[in-house]
Amino acid sequence: MAVGVFDSGLGGLTVLEALTRRLPDVPFVYLGDNAHAPYGTRTPDDIYRLTCAGVERLWDAGCDLVILACNTASAAALRRMQETWVPRDKRVLGVFVPLIEALTERQWGDNSPPREVAVRHVALFATPATVSSRAFQRELAFRAIGVDVEAQPCGGLVDAIEAGDMMLAEALVQSHVAALRRRMPAPEAAVLGCTHYPLMQQAFAEALGPGVRVISQPAIVADSLADYLLRHPDLRGTGRVAEHLTTGDARIVGAQAAQFLRRAIAFRSA
Ligand code: SIN
Repeated sequence: MAVGVFDSGLGGLTVLEALTRRLPDVPFVYLGDNAHAPYGTRTPDDIYRLTCAGVERLWDAGCDLVILACNTASAAALRRMQETWVPRDKRVLGVFVPLIEALTERQWGDNSPPREVAVRHVALFATPATVSSRAFQRELAFRAIGVDVEAQPCGGLVDAIEAGDMMLAEALVQSHVAALRRRMPAPEAAVLGCTHYPLMQQAFAEALGPGVRVISQPAIVADSLADYLLRHPDLRGTGRVAEHLTTGDARIVGAQAAQFLRRAIAFRSA
């Protein structure tokens, strides 16, 4: 058995890196749906269908627990999957709840009523599909009251990062931050709600300026999963070698991943 990590493409490798650093004995099987990436401009039904297909592939690979590293899939598909589709003997978790628990300083699984929290003005940077799902605001409302969220759809940013065009990516970060600031001049925290954006964390921090706490997911998700596995040791997985699968062309995706993370990673076709 292993723990599955599903992503629309390469961005989830930032989450996988944090997971393997935090949980070196857990075997992870990564599946990137590169044949259909990016998800950020797809319809909710399309994202739901593709995400279910990817999760089923990971179940077939022996992963009873699957993490949706992709924010767009977590936002547009996870709740519907959990409510209507995931069988009782399997688990699918997303990346929004850990992020919101960190933002609202809640312990994992704290289901007490929503309460006032220290942070009042939050900027969310994410893909157009994540922003229009309003999943972040919905999950936040279960846990906190009085928090004003201003969401900025960062069109073009995933494509620029995947293409390795960092000049364009930096320019896009600056223009998306400027657009957000016109609606929320003084955010206290900025959430990077897409797997690709940790690679632009410094550009976001510089564009936002001092005094804005930039919250990036990978380490938060890794800590939350470590907590979860402490509570569910049966789902940890053992005796497997980690592997990387893709729905795309394994050779091309391996080369893109090496460029993306600046180290070699071997992919196998799913
Ligand atoms: C995408 O597939 O468009 C980006 C992945 C994400 O939302 O984390």
